[in-house]
Amino acid sequence: MPTSDRTPGPVDASQFTALDRGTQDQHATLIRWLDLQNSWATMRMAKRALLDLLALRPGQAALEVGCGTGDDALALAERVGPTGRVVALDLSMFQLEEARRRAVGSPLAIEFAQGDVQELAYPDDTFDACRCERVLQHVPALEQSLRELVRVTKPGGRVVVIDTDWGGLVTSDPVLQALVAHVTATIRNPQVGRALGRLFRDVGLREIAVRPQLCGPLPDEWTPEAIRMSHSFIPAALAGGTVSPADVAAWSTTFAQDTRDGIAFWTAPYFVVAGTKV
Ligand SMILES: C[S@@+](CC[C@H](N)C(=O)[O-])C[C@H]1O[C@@H](n2cnc3c(N)ncnc32)[C@H](O)[C@@H]1O
Repeated sequence: MPTSDRTPGPVDASQFTALDRGTQDQHATLIRWLDLQNSWATMRMAKRALLDLLALRPGQAALEVGCGTGDDALALAERVGPTGRVVALDLSMFQLEEARRRAVGSPLAIEFAQGDVQELAYPDDTFDACRCERVLQHVPALEQSLRELVRVTKPGGRVVVIDTDWGGLVTSDPVLQALVAHVTATIRNPQVGRALGRLFRDVGLREIAVRPQLCGPLPDEWTPEAIRMSHSFIPAALAGGTVSPADVAAWSTTFAQDTRDGIAFWTAPYFVVAGTKV
């Protein structure tokens, strides 16, 4: 059976700080979840905006922190070209394996490294740019992590972060709201999005650009995979008492109708933030 036809296991956002402890099924679900989100137009738009804010040139060195499946590291490598350097770093060996697998056959040189954004193993002023997407919402030491990104960036270099603000979650119906909120309740810094601009200033970054956007699937992006993924949130929400079996039974019918009619949605603010090290 193709992977996309299998019911995914439950998504638990707290796993993003300790992915290697999960089972193979959990790993597969998290990769499917990342791939699904990364396919959405809203996400692609934010990633493009961030690449533009990075303003990388051929021959430069870039650090991709919390690289996940590694697709964004490949995009950086295209910008810096064969004379440049990209390091794709992640806490999780399992994510790094997936990122390495996806880079096989690419002519672009990417180094993969295990590491923790809270304590980077690079000297001061190493990279022309550091990129970090959807990682700071999970880290225990938020400001320290940002200070580390600044430390390893060269003076005049750019630090760019994309992160969500789950305090702004809005959905098309209360049960969908409860299901998504149940997953995001396990996130350590759920409102980091709105705080990024101030944090960037506090750690000494200048020429700060804050670009709030919205993320989430557009009406034509409610594919069978996206619908299955939403249903995968149900068991944990039922166990946690956030929704009742009766709620879920009624919702399954209205959700199917709403996705067909193009009126189902969930959305949350997504902040693309850049700053320059002085
Ligand atoms: C939500 S995923 C985002 C992946 C990728 N940046 C993307 O946007 O598709 C979070 C990633 O951060 C990694 N991560 C979590 N805590 C980390 C830490 N302290 N240092 C480095 N990476 C971390 C996880 O292993 C995971 O790959």
